[in-house]
Amino acid sequence: MAKEIGVLFVCLGNICRSPQAEGIFRKLVADAGLRDRFDIDSAGTGGWHAGEAPDWRTQAASERHGIPLPHRARLFEVGDFDRFDHILAMDRSNLRDILALARDDADRHKVRLLRELDPLADVVSVPDPYYGDGDGFERVFQICLAACRGLLRELTARHRRTPSGPIDPA
Ligand code: 4NP
Repeated sequence: MAKEIGVLFVCLGNICRSPQAEGIFRKLVADAGLRDRFDIDSAGTGGWHAGEAPDWRTQAASERHGIPLPHRARLFEVGDFDRFDHILAMDRSNLRDILALARDDADRHKVRLLRELDPLADVVSVPDPYYGDGDGFERVFQICLAACRGLLRELTARHRRTPSGPIDPA
């Protein structure tokens, strides 16, 4: 059966930022005891790295924080609009590329910038660390952590269950 809340993180290559955000969000959801309610994944708007493990520098940064990343890169596809309720882009370029594939307003309304969920962020993009130094990967970890905390706060409030069982749509 499909999970109640589908969340997809999207970047360009799906080997640095979005698998990092996916791993962090999985951990936050598991720690909150909500694993059964979420379908969580990540994808890239480019397919060059499809099938690959996350960049070794992303894996190193994540494992320093106790979060392994078993994900394999894949290309974002139109069917992701059907599977996921919330599609979180890492930067404006990713956002544009995802929106270019949207079929209607229902698809478009699912797409946001991840960093907009961090109330303390003063910019909206998660910087691409691929061509930078090792510090960039730790920075991406911290940026994704802050934003994923905000995302989980928002989703748990939005999908709050009423005492009688069904989801309160407020
Ligand atoms: P990501 O980083 O979008 O965070 O996965 C990149 C990974 C690979 C490339 C660009 C960005 N690339 O050009 O191969």
